[in-house]
Amino acid sequence: GTTLGASAAESGRYFGTAVAANKLSDSTYVGILNREFNMVTPENEMKWDATEPSQNQFNYTNADRIVSHAQANGMRIRGHALAWHSQQPGWVQNLSGTALRQAMLNHVTQVATHYKGKIHSWDVVNEAFADGGTGARRDSNLQRTGDDWIEAAFRAARAADPGAKLCYNDYNTDGQNAKSNAVYAMVQDFKSRGVPIDCVGFQSHFNPNSPVPSDYQANLQRFANLGIDVQITELDIEGSGTAQADNYSRVIKACMAVSRCTGITVWGIRDSDSWRSSGTPLLFDASGNKKPAYTSTLNALNGG
Ligand code: G3I
Repeated sequence: GTTLGASAAESGRYFGTAVAANKLSDSTYVGILNREFNMVTPENEMKWDATEPSQNQFNYTNADRIVSHAQANGMRIRGHALAWHSQQPGWVQNLSGTALRQAMLNHVTQVATHYKGKIHSWDVVNEAFADGGTGARRDSNLQRTGDDWIEAAFRAARAADPGAKLCYNDYNTDGQNAKSNAVYAMVQDFKSRGVPIDCVGFQSHFNPNSPVPSDYQANLQRFANLGIDVQITELDIEGSGTAQADNYSRVIKACMAVSRCTGITVWGIRDSDSWRSSGTPLLFDASGNKKPAYTSTLNALNGG
């Protein structure tokens, strides 16, 4: 293939990007988006603060703009994210206990129902485990409603949109470590008890302090061996030139080597679109030109 999306499709995979609704009027941005990508993840527009700014008052304006653009251009959509400790509206931050649990379940149900039939995969729960060596759950207001909040969210999402793949998504789980071991144990437990889960997303935000792990492919494979799909969901890699290109190639090749690694999403299009505003972690420069990392990614998707 000659584009990222077409090349990924040749092996039955997708190649996606995070999209910001307010950039859909930027013709350079949209030109690259429509040419290269066949999956989109709304970068912020489906989060709790965006979709339910006041309790039971839902606002889908910006998220719907991205969904419409995707549908008009034959792109699939990864919903992001239904239940997360971050980017909660103020009214949620002021709740606890049963009231928070019910608000979370209502949010999952309402948003998944609004988008029923339109979402390929949902990040149902995002970033629920703690960093470091404990393998514990992250302390958050959602966690304090009870350990079963994650499975409750997955069951509510399945009931609302039975056709969507339901994923758990996290960072610093890209190699084998205490955090990824804890996620692994959760998935194993969910599978053994029939809690609906279809996929695990590996965010894959890499930089010199957090490089691509040497056991990246092995880690993807062990999760796939649990009988779920895996995806690379928020890929960006700090650096430039050949070193950055080589790191991108390693990540893409790892996914290509795991049959249940069904797709790759980069977290933005141009370096200037990145959440790492000072960095250059993406595949296109600020002018929209292809970087060496683009070429190595394309070659890896094409088996080179
Ligand atoms: O929209 C408001 C704007 O009205 C306001 O004037 C401005 C002032 O700060 O803020 C704008 O909101 C910002 C929003 O991005 C949209 O640009 C928030 O402050 C800012 O915090 C938010 O950052 C996002 C971040 O998640 C928040 O946690 C990034 O764009 C987004 O790329 C990032 O994405 C996360 C994934 O969801 C989960 N995994 C990690 C990843 C990177 O942090």
